[in-house]
Amino acid sequence: MSDFAQSVKQQADIVRVIGEYITLKKSGAQNYSGLCPFHGEKTPSFSVHVTRQFYHCFGCGVSGDVFKFVQEIDKVSFPEAVKIVAQKCGIALPKREFSSPEEAAESRLRGRLLELYEQATLFFEEQLKSPEGARAREYLTGRGLKPETLAKFRIGYAPEGFGGLRDRLNGAAPPDVLRASGLFGFKAQEDGGAGRMYDYFRKRITFPIANEGGRVIAFTARALDSDDKGGPKYLNSPETPLYSKGQVLFNLDKARQAIRQQNFALLVEGQMDCISVFAAGVAPVLATSGTAFTEQQARLLRRYTTRVVVNFDPDTAGANAAEKSIALLTEEGFEVRVVTLEGGLDPDRFVRERGIQAYAEALKSAVRHSDYLIERARKLFPVRTAQGKVEAVNFLLPHIQRMPDVIAKVEFAKDIGDKLAIDAALLRERLKQAAAKRPGQVAAMGISNLSECERVLVRALAGPLGSETFRRVFQAMEAQPEHFEGLGILTALQELAGRAIADPLEVLQPSARTMVAQLLMRESEPVNGHELESTLVTLERHFLEHRQRRLRGAIAEAERRGDLPGVTARMTERMELDRRLRDLDQRMRELIGQHG
Ligand code: UTP
Ligand code: MN
Repeated sequence: MSDFAQSVKQQADIVRVIGEYITLKKSGAQNYSGLCPFHGEKTPSFSVHVTRQFYHCFGCGVSGDVFKFVQEIDKVSFPEAVKIVAQKCGIALPKREFSSPEEAAESRLRGRLLELYEQATLFFEEQLKSPEGARAREYLTGRGLKPETLAKFRIGYAPEGFGGLRDRLNGAAPPDVLRASGLFGFKAQEDGGAGRMYDYFRKRITFPIANEGGRVIAFTARALDSDDKGGPKYLNSPETPLYSKGQVLFNLDKARQAIRQQNFALLVEGQMDCISVFAAGVAPVLATSGTAFTEQQARLLRRYTTRVVVNFDPDTAGANAAEKSIALLTEEGFEVRVVTLEGGLDPDRFVRERGIQAYAEALKSAVRHSDYLIERARKLFPVRTAQGKVEAVNFLLPHIQRMPDVIAKVEFAKDIGDKLAIDAALLRERLKQAAAKRPGQVAAMGISNLSECERVLVRALAGPLGSETFRRVFQAMEAQPEHFEGLGILTALQELAGRAIADPLEVLQPSARTMVAQLLMRESEPVNGHELESTLVTLERHFLEHRQRRLRGAIAEAERRGDLPGVTARMTERMELDRRLRDLDQRMRELIGQHG
């Protein structure tokens, strides 16, 4: 964060800024709450913490600082959010709003690329209407797309030649900007010179990919002839300063309002599926464009809904991607349902052949992702045999583990037991074993599972702390991992040590994030050095007492065996322990004295 942003953040009052967007009521010593603007709700689960200056929604799981809030609600970039907050709080802007010349240059470049993409979109739209676009028009009409749909999605045609778009955009921007646009290829030259520019998209139907605000930032373009040597069926824009494939959801600009209102998103694989379904009247639909869902896409979507209905092609190469998408979404705390269409049709063909009514029915019959997975396991393995049951459980186990919600987890396990006739106790045992093997994973839990000491540590780690404190906390953790129910959370927070991250909650799994937010919202003031010190002393005490108990057992055992040297060695160890415990008690008394 730039110095300017830092100083804005220090001066700004998050409660006042957020209060300009939504109504906030005081709800605790240090927090306010209101209706979450990021998902539809009737009872307030959106909280803002006064001293820690962050917000968290216990309904949909979003959280962040004042800048993140403005970024998401106003759909602006970080520098713009800083500017907006500064203005709201009456803080004078520095002459240059960019923290570095590179940043300013990058922003200028992005502006120019947006202009180029706008012009390219217009050019392709024109071409579709021109005589040269006749075949493309026929093709699209044949696929059931009406003129108003073509206009709404700004579908176009990239002509066959190598220089159509080039000649149109020539001189519209300096050569380096044209080069960065990804709209052109370059023919290498023998002398190693810049090379001659040619159109990247040729003889293809162009589908613009827009950002959340509806500006075109890339294209995906479908070949007219399927048997062509002209490259893949769909050709995408390369990554540019405007566009990164894993960060965009096709149609989010048109669907986002409906997604928020209806509180779910329908995910399909292809752009054509998405367009057909949208045109037929199902508005909250997005396309993943044939690749697996990314974490960034999940984060993007979370701002609108955490309920997803997945309708991928039943048996394509994308089936793998579909599985991965479902896994990622579940892990990110989404409620996922799965639709399987009759007859192995993809959504596009299903809507055209059976009608939107039938499709709406199919959507209603979407099954919970857990039921879908159990069904898959049943198809994949001979679940009536003992061996088949083992295989099915091994297949399902990682999916259960990914569910951040403990209740959903238990229910899933119960369903597996019922439907595959597997003993529930056995299943629980396997789950426990698997959980023990993955200590890095944060197990689902409520704050009630945490000891008082852990609560203090979590709160301390989520705040600004010196590196010395971090070191001591981790020493305590390493010495006695078995004492830490929340080890996953603490390790995740440990990774933050020394890094300047605006929102510590961001690194946590959804369930852990909610838990930490709960802790922080309830605290009346941040952890002070004194409180932390007594916590560390208490933890060390637990640890030493634990060792003492083990030693006592070992001494008794050595005595029984008549192992005298063993007894002596352990007695010495025990005396050393006793001494350290006395020191600790002394330290504790001092601490209490200081406090009183
Ligand atoms: P499909 O091959 O299932 O295409 O790929 P589709 O959506 O049914 O396309 P139509 O109906 O024949 O026009 C699914 C998705 O995978 C991506 C595209 O996003 C496509 O929609 N894909 C596919 C590519 O990116 N490149 C390809 O060459 C093929
Ligand atoms: Mn298709």
